Amino acid sequence: MSKKVLITRVIPKLAYDLLTKAGFEVTVWEGNGPMTQPQLIERAKNVDALLSLGADKIDSYFFGQCSHLDIIAQFAVGYDNIDVAEASRRGIPIGNTPDVLSNATADVAFGLMIAVSRKMFYLHKTIEQGGWKQFEPLKNLGIELNGKTLGIFGLGRIGMVMAQRCRGAYSMNIIYHNRTRNTEAENQLGARWVTFDELLATSDVLSVHSALTAETRGLFNKACFSKMKKSAIFINTSRGSVHNEEDLIEALRTGTIWGAGLDVTNPEPMQPTNPLLSMPNAAILPHIGSATEEARNGMARLAAENIIEFYKTGNVPHCVNRQVLGKN
Ligand code: DGY
Repeated sequence: MSKKVLITRVIPKLAYDLLTKAGFEVTVWEGNGPMTQPQLIERAKNVDALLSLGADKIDSYFFGQCSHLDIIAQFAVGYDNIDVAEASRRGIPIGNTPDVLSNATADVAFGLMIAVSRKMFYLHKTIEQGGWKQFEPLKNLGIELNGKTLGIFGLGRIGMVMAQRCRGAYSMNIIYHNRTRNTEAENQLGARWVTFDELLATSDVLSVHSALTAETRGLFNKACFSKMKKSAIFINTSRGSVHNEEDLIEALRTGTIWGAGLDVTNPEPMQPTNPLLSMPNAAILPHIGSATEEARNGMARLAAENIIEFYKTGNVPHCVNRQVLGKN
């Protein structure tokens, strides 16, 4: 009998095609948004595998109800919506989709950096509001990026592409803070590992690319912003919960830091009344890091392949709790 897979949102058809071609019976939640947890549990009870998205709440309660699942393949590189420790205790492998979205996400970080440095989003809005009256010799001034220092918090795959873009375009000096050293970045880009405090104090642009974990939740707060340069730009394209948004708003208002570019907000979605949306030195996007044809198709392919390979060979090509493989 064929195995059943539930895809929890409409994603690129490639995933559906690959899975059905491989003999799976696939159902897709076609609702206009994520399922509630009760809806998800009800449907997950009837399948063998889940192809999940970041908005699905896959916590210990979920696993208590759906411990029968063979595998969960997440359509994202991030998996902070999943209680991986609980999945591992129950021997359920969790797949993700790294690499295929690194270029797309780094492009958003890079674009936000430039947009903030020249107040682009804000100035676009002022034209719409009739605010472009004449050439202004002393107004609307931005800051240049050439030769500045890029600090990366979480120098993995996406951070590496961001660092390459910044080095190539602006000869920026690269510093980074990670738990482990990134020798590839050190050899290729001359990147220098620094302490967290040095990262805060030295970066002209501080770009966050870390996962959301217990250690990084709320990490960028008032105390951190106060240690940064007044001329610094803060960029976050990882997860909104890594920064404290009230503290960020305050830091921008008081000139503690110069600007901020966010593709991820805290909470999501951001409300249209959020003060960040009308600040001159802020640029906000609605979590579009991986939103390119190429990246989303790549994510669909990897998520489907994680399931197909698992049933074929017992291996999950991109697995975040590899220790459970072979134990089923
Ligand atoms: C990811 O892959 O983690 C992106 O943020 C999309 O959810």
